[in-house]
Formats: sequence, C-alpha cells, structure tokens
Amino acid sequence: MKIEVVEGDITLLDVDAIINAANNSLLGGGGVDGAIHKAAGPELLTECRTLGGCPTGEAKITAGYRLPARYVIHTVGPIWHGGQQSEPELLARCYQNSLALTAEHQLRSVAFPAISCGVYGYPPAPAVRIAVSTVRRAAPVTLEQVLFCCFSQELAQLYRQALAES
Ligand code: AR6
Repeated sequence: MKIEVVEGDITLLDVDAIINAANNSLLGGGGVDGAIHKAAGPELLTECRTLGGCPTGEAKITAGYRLPARYVIHTVGPIWHGGQQSEPELLARCYQNSLALTAEHQLRSVAFPAISCGVYGYPPAPAVRIAVSTVRRAAPVTLEQVLFCCFSQELAQLYRQALAES
C-alpha cells in the first residue's frame, strides 16, 4: 500500500472514496464538509438525510454524485476539549471505521482530510500522528493507495514528518 501526502482540495481527487469530516447530523456544515456537499451537489444531502446522523468516531458511506470520487465516507471527529475526553481514541476510531468501510466496499484508493483539525480544534501534530499510525495499523489488504490531503503546506509537512518517523 502506498501512502502519499497531497496538498489542495480533496473534492478534486479522483479516488474511490474521499473522507468527509462531518458533524453528528450528517446534514452538512462548513470546512471540508461544506466543500464536499457543494461539489457533490444536492443529491448528497438527500442521501445523507436517510442516514439518521452518525455518532462521533463512527462512519457512514454514500455515493459521490458529482464528485470525481465514487463514494464519500462521512465520519465525525471529536471536538477537542483538552485531550482528556477520549479525543485520541475517538479520532483513531474515525480512521479505523472509515478504513473498514473501504474494505467492505472493496475500494482501492481513499483520501483523508485532517479530521478534527479545523473547526473542531484538534491540535494538528498529535492528530497527524494518530492518522498515520492508525492507517499503517488498520489499512485493509484491499487498499492500494491512501492519500492524506492537506489544505496547507504546514500540515503537509507534519504528515511527511510523521510518515518519516513511523
Ligand atoms: N480539502 C481538503 N481539506 C480541507 C478542505 C478541502 N476542500 N476544506 C477544509 N479542509 P474542518 P473538523 C481542511 O473544519 O475540524 C464542519 O462544519 C481544514 O483546513 O473541515 O473535523 C462539519 O460540519 C482542516 O485541516 O473539519 C463539522 O461541524 C481539515 O480539513 C466541523 O466542521 C478539517 O477541518 C468538523 O470540524
């Protein structure tokens, strides 16, 4: 399995699935969630309405509609409250459960944004270490390519560092 770091907009990536950093309602929001809904078109929201929301740490899959990606895997990261409220475990579960869905659907390529590192306030350095270690540990054999999609150069640098160190 190849792990790569890419900079830019996740909605443009031609992979089997992109991961959405959603909220418990799964009904859209700002950040990467807003960008994905905008690019996928209104049919995405229509499908999301049928899902009944999503608990923090879990993941649900939909079609990708107008996105280049065939699927969107919606996961809900923890809101950072200082690190003592199971944030690391919940963040790891987002990656694990998203990866499990890629296996269920026999997907070969997936792109993750930095879940929880925007509005939800998770400090990027520890979040990136969890992302890298969980993907290394829990990626199914079906997966050939994992992209970490970064909206900034600084974030991309953190991923490259974490990948080099692990
Ligand atoms: N492509 C790739 N990365 C992006 C994009 C994009 N188009 N847009 C933002 N990012 P956030 P969270 C980066 O806030 O912290 C939403 O309102 C961003 O720079 O999108 O998990 C949801 O509905 C950051 O590094 O997600 C929830 O309410 C990372 O994606 C809440 O935000 C995650 O930032 C979830 O907050």
